[in-house]
Amino acid sequence: MAQPAAKAAPATPFSSQPHGGGVLLRRPSSPPPPAAALRLGPLFWPWQKVKVGPLSVSPMGFGTWAWGNQLLWGYQESMDSELQECFNLALKNGINLFDTADSYGTGKLNGQSERLLGKFIRECQGPIKSPDDVIIATKFAAYPWRLTSGQFVNACKSSLERLQIDRLGIGQLHWSTANYAPLQERALWDSLVEMYDKGLVRAVGVSNYGPKQLVKIHSYLASRGVPLSSAQVQFSLLSMGDEQMELKTVCDSLGVRLIAYSPLGLGMLTGKYDASNLPNGPRSVLFRQILPGLESLLSCLKSIADRKGKTMSQVRVFLSAERLWSDPN
Ligand SMILES: NC(=O)c1ccc[n+]([C@@H]2O[C@H](COP(=O)([O-])OP(=O)(O)OC[C@H]3O[C@@H](n4cnc5c(N)ncnc54)[C@H](OP(=O)(O)O)[C@@H]3O)[C@@H](O)[C@H]2O)c1
Repeated sequence: MAQPAAKAAPATPFSSQPHGGGVLLRRPSSPPPPAAALRLGPLFWPWQKVKVGPLSVSPMGFGTWAWGNQLLWGYQESMDSELQECFNLALKNGINLFDTADSYGTGKLNGQSERLLGKFIRECQGPIKSPDDVIIATKFAAYPWRLTSGQFVNACKSSLERLQIDRLGIGQLHWSTANYAPLQERALWDSLVEMYDKGLVRAVGVSNYGPKQLVKIHSYLASRGVPLSSAQVQFSLLSMGDEQMELKTVCDSLGVRLIAYSPLGLGMLTGKYDASNLPNGPRSVLFRQILPGLESLLSCLKSIADRKGKTMSQVRVFLSAERLWSDPN
């Protein structure tokens, strides 16, 4: 496995937050660990699984933020059959962790990501023997009108209804409200306990929590007999600042699995965009601002990719996976 990460230099936020969950892009602050060059075999074989609490999941998950999102990702309902093919292909190739959220889907398509996942699971002809074979990790939005734990438990029940399943793999808090609504934060924590105790979720997790808040919620849940299984954070070559590395250290010490989101920097690390070829929609504003500063990183990724006969996305996933899987266990 990879070496423990070196202490990262202070990171500078690149830009604002294009997503309610708190996307914060940071400058890459330290080089990839030397173990990347020494590895003789793959990090994982396709059939391998890793533990997230009691669950066995594929090391690489499948994110579904784009499903139902017209504003940022240009989703159209005519894409559904292609999405279903992607889902089936992923499942057939050993991917069993699917990330979604109750806020995914814009306007009248709100909840579409969960609905599509449910439909694809039901219609899948492939390797699903029991509903628990597919691990759905959904996230509950801390909307200001959800003030009590009961309201969050109802949100969980609505997700289950959209997904048409009896229980979730991981029920996650989408973001913390500790900095602006501490009373709501307590309701969030209590709701995870209730969901877990009622058997609505097999495991609980958080998303967009910093290291200090993670320690607090971990200890609160432990005092209520509920293990915290996962913490989702933006983690890529564009976002490996001090806070992410500290969170990784805290996760390792508490036995909480870190789940990386936006691993391709919303597409900036794939090599398919540059100043003269920007994506449609709000991402273009962000990309126009950030891409010029990434020239040397992207050309380095491209030269590694060309040498290895891989795509830039494959190289990028490998480099940050080295960091991510520096798991002492
Ligand atoms: N917890 C949170 O607050 C939070 C926030 C953000 C994301 N997430 C989760 O993380 C998941 C992934 O993150 P993300 O969607 O933000 O961004 P991402 O995975 O970093 O980037 C997505 C972009 O990469 C492109 N791409 C993906 N695979 C590629 C490949 N093999 N070759 C070339 N291009 C490729 C996609 O192209 P196309 O557009 O052509 O598909 C898209 O433009 C989300 O779906 C969501 O589940 C969670």
